[in-house]
Amino acid sequence: MIPYRPALTGAALAAAVWGGMTLAQQSDVFSFIPDGGRTILERWQDDGLPGDLAKSIRTEEATAATWRTRLDGTDLDQWDAATLAEYLEAYAPLDPEGDLPRDGRDMTLDLCQSCHIVTVVVTQDRSPEAWLGTMNSPSHIEIDVTETERQLLADYLTLNAGIPIDQIPPELRAGGASY
Ligand code: HEC
Repeated sequence: MIPYRPALTGAALAAAVWGGMTLAQQSDVFSFIPDGGRTILERWQDDGLPGDLAKSIRTEEATAATWRTRLDGTDLDQWDAATLAEYLEAYAPLDPEGDLPRDGRDMTLDLCQSCHIVTVVVTQDRSPEAWLGTMNSPSHIEIDVTETERQLLADYLTLNAGIPIDQIPPELRAGGASY
């Protein structure tokens, strides 16, 4: 496991510039939650995904560890590389220019806020097995995800959750990390 990423662009910055932000920016209160594989890949596609990597993504199936070695030495930082590697394990081969399936962050925002505040989720530092255990608990077993999505969500949260409470926007701290 890697230590939690330094908050260069997340809540710390958001808090610093909050007063000067437009309403649209303020409404994205979830910007502190790190990007998932879909967004990382879309961003990279826009910025110029290297051709050989695009070809691998389009044609190959591989483990996250193998994708990780291919992403080493590219422009991605280690957190984005680790997150994207899990996404590619779940979905490659896939067309990086196509309509990409939802990633762990998408699922967290779509599926994990209806019964409790998302803070309950993103502040937990857990192993993949523990996240799968949470997903299989009686409170969560009914959540509509495929096996692939369940595993991807566990891998995404292992890498990207465990966010320190002082990096959570104040309005999402109300009542603490409670239900
Ligand atoms: C259908 C309602 C519901 C949804 C949707 C839901 N939760 Fe929960 N969650 C609960 C309830 C109820 C509790 C408190 C009881 C418990 O711990 O099972 C809880 C507690 C938790 C906890 C803290 C307790 C524990 O199990 O460690 C975590 C972490 C958690 N949820 C993660 C998630 C994630 C991840 C998602 C999205 C995939 C999610 N929840 C979506 C109902 C829900």
